[in-house]
Amino acid sequence: MTALDFMPAEKAPQAGSLALGATTNNAAAAGAAVQLQLQRRRLEGKVAIVTGGARGIGEAIVRAFVRQGARVVIADIDDAAGEALADALGAAWCSYVHCDVSVEADVERAVGCCVASYGRLDVLCNNAGVLGRQAAPSVAGVGARSGGIASLDAAEFDRVLRVNTLGAALGMKHAARAMLQSRGVGGVGSIVSVASVAGVVGGMGPHAYTASKHALVGLTKNAACELGEHGIRVNCVSPFGVATPMLVNAWRHGHQGEDEEGASSAAPVSAEEVEKTEEMVRGLATLKGPTLRAGDIAEAALFLASDESRYISGHNLVVDGGVTTSRNVIGL
Ligand SMILES: NC(=O)c1ccc[n+]([C@@H]2O[C@H](COP(=O)([O-])OP(=O)(O)OC[C@H]3O[C@@H](n4cnc5c(N)ncnc54)[C@H](O)[C@@H]3O)[C@@H](O)[C@H]2O)c1
Repeated sequence: MTALDFMPAEKAPQAGSLALGATTNNAAAAGAAVQLQLQRRRLEGKVAIVTGGARGIGEAIVRAFVRQGARVVIADIDDAAGEALADALGAAWCSYVHCDVSVEADVERAVGCCVASYGRLDVLCNNAGVLGRQAAPSVAGVGARSGGIASLDAAEFDRVLRVNTLGAALGMKHAARAMLQSRGVGGVGSIVSVASVAGVVGGMGPHAYTASKHALVGLTKNAACELGEHGIRVNCVSPFGVATPMLVNAWRHGHQGEDEEGASSAAPVSAEEVEKTEEMVRGLATLKGPTLRAGDIAEAALFLASDESRYISGHNLVVDGGVTTSRNVIGL
C-alpha cells in the first residue's frame, strides 16, 4: 500500500502529469518512470459495477476500487446506505443505482446506467448475496446437526439461489454484452464474483447457501470458458468468515442463517458484536494471528479486477487462511 492509497482520488496525480515533468535528463526521466510505475493506480481509468456494494464486503470493495482510480457504480437494494456511500466518495467517482440482482430488468438497467454515465464497463463485481434461513429439523434423527434437509423450505431455497446464483448469472450476461461493446475502445473486461468457502466444502452454511455458492463457482468456470475468447476474464473470490452484518446477525440469532424476516442481515451491529464474531472466527481459523476483514477480500477482488491478474481466468481465489485445505482434527 502506498501513500496514494489514502489520498482522495481527485487529488491523486494523473499518470501523464508525472511524465511531462521529467524531460530534462535521462536520470530524471528514469526516476519519473519509476515513480510513475509506483504511483499508477491499479484500476486507473476503469469503470466498475459492484453489486451489494452498500455495506459489508461490498463496501470495502467499492472503497478499494475508487482508491485505485476506478469509477464505481454501486448496485444494491439498500438505497439509504448505497446513496450515503456514493455521496461520501464523491459524485465524480461513485454513483448509486437501485438494483435487485434477482430481477433481470434491474440488472439490465444498472449496466445501462453505468454505460450511459461513464461510457463503458470494464469490471463487474458480483458481490450481492444472502445467507437465507434454515428451518430447525422437524424429522427426528434427520439433519439433526445444522437444521434439516428434511424440512427444506422450497420457496426459501429458491430465494437464496435467485439472489446468489441467478443474480450473478444475470450480472455476467448484461456485463458481458456491455464489455463486448466497449472492446473497440480498449476494453477487455474482468468479472469477479464473491462466492464463499461454502462453495468449496460442505458444512459451512445453510443448504441453499452452500448449493448457491457451489453453483456460482461452477458458473464462473463455465463463463470463463466462453468469454475467454473475447478477452473477458471471469473469476471468483471465496472468503471464510468476515464479521459483516450478514455474519454478525446470523450468529446473533444462534444458528446459521437469517431470522424469520429474512432481512436480519440489515440490522445494525455494534462494535462489541463485531469483536465477538471476529473472536469466534479466529477460534475456528487454521491460520492464527491475523483477523480476516472485509479489506482482505477487497484486496483479492482488486487483484482479480486489475490487469495484474491478466492471465488468470476461471479461478476461485480462496481467502480462508487454509481452512478448506486442512482438517486438523487430530492435532498434528
Ligand atoms: N461475511 C462473510 O463471512 C462471508 C463469507 C463468505 C462469503 N460472503 C459473501 O460475501 C458477499 C457479501 O456479504 P456480506 O457479508 O458483506 O453481507 P452483508 O449482508 O453485510 O451485505 C450484503 C449486501 O448485499 C445487498 N443485497 C442483498 N440482497 C441483494 C439483492 N437481491 N440485490 C442487490 N443487493 C442485495 C445488501 O443490501 C448488502 O448491501 C455475499 O455474497 C456473501 O455470500 C460473506
